Amino acid sequence: MQDERVKNEKMRDDLGRRIEYLRVSVTDKCNLRCQYCMPPEGVEQIPHRELLTLEELSRIIAVCAELGVRRVRFTGGEPLVRKNLEKLVEEVSAIQGVEEVLLTTNGVLLSQCLPALLRAGLSGVNISLDTLKESVFRGLTGRDGLGNVLRAIEESAASGLRTKINCVPCREWNEPELEEIAALAVRLPVDVRFIELMPMGCGKRFHGIPTGEVLERLEAEYGPAQPLPGEHKRGYGPADYVAFEGFRGRIGFISPMSHKFCGECNRIRLTAEGRLKLCLHYDRGLELKPFIRGGAADEEICGAILDAVRQKPGEHDFERELREHTKGADERRMVQIGG
Ligand code: 5AD
Ligand code: SF4
Repeated sequence: MQDERVKNEKMRDDLGRRIEYLRVSVTDKCNLRCQYCMPPEGVEQIPHRELLTLEELSRIIAVCAELGVRRVRFTGGEPLVRKNLEKLVEEVSAIQGVEEVLLTTNGVLLSQCLPALLRAGLSGVNISLDTLKESVFRGLTGRDGLGNVLRAIEESAASGLRTKINCVPCREWNEPELEEIAALAVRLPVDVRFIELMPMGCGKRFHGIPTGEVLERLEAEYGPAQPLPGEHKRGYGPADYVAFEGFRGRIGFISPMSHKFCGECNRIRLTAEGRLKLCLHYDRGLELKPFIRGGAADEEICGAILDAVRQKPGEHDFERELREHTKGADERRMVQIGG
């Protein structure tokens, strides 16, 4: 293990950004078909042998932890459709240097998995919730299941687990419901975050509602948003938080379109088939499977990751993406990357 100083230097990219956060997609499968994420016919699935095993995932995460990653988030597809995810959570929680193990889920299977995940040491969960109406949920996701999601939100909050709700405001789906969705944070100790729709894959077909407009509407309903002091204002990630009087949880805004936060980006991504992605927007990255399955030693993998991370793109170019196709843009669906 290197000393602290060397480690810190190593984890910066060429623009000086420190990488401490790793998002790991554990599967490309999903039990929903959200229209802005997946085409209705589904996407071609990764053959089983091409998926990293839980042991392989765990090994790569351990190497990344040695290089300075302190938070790990499991995503999908839907991460809870991957068998034995709780084992991975437990293993990764035990890796030296990993301070938080998190999960982003659509919530449909969460209720039944929650006890095992809590025992495994999960530190927090983000649950996607774009609507409170069963008919809209069915239209948007192609499935039933809103009841399960709402139950999971209640149970997760009641268990004391740090619980956040992610909502993507969209003209076509939930425009009339935003105030009501925010109000979950009145009754429950949960943060509700509004995420601007990014024009990726199927997301290009819909119209996101910008943060400024959502905030205006919430202020009209709930009074002026109050700024939060220091560490509560900014999450560890790109969310900006405010408080409303009478709310137990915070309201957050993630605004990749209207307030680019690339300059503070602290994250990299690992796809289910083992590609280390340096920016959500670009497919540029490092294939780790040949190393892992070719018998490479940890040091060799470390070196390859460090070289790749140095070349992390400076920023996304979704503005241009809206106008024309960007060369090198990742054309895969969100479901294959994990958000
Ligand atoms: N833009 C913004 N968020 C998206 N998600 C899926 N596709 C997009 C997109 N194009 C969100 C989901 C979920 C999270 C995993 O990613 O709503 O909350
Ligand atoms: Fe919906 Fe998330 Fe599944 Fe995509 S991965 S279809 S956004 S639940």
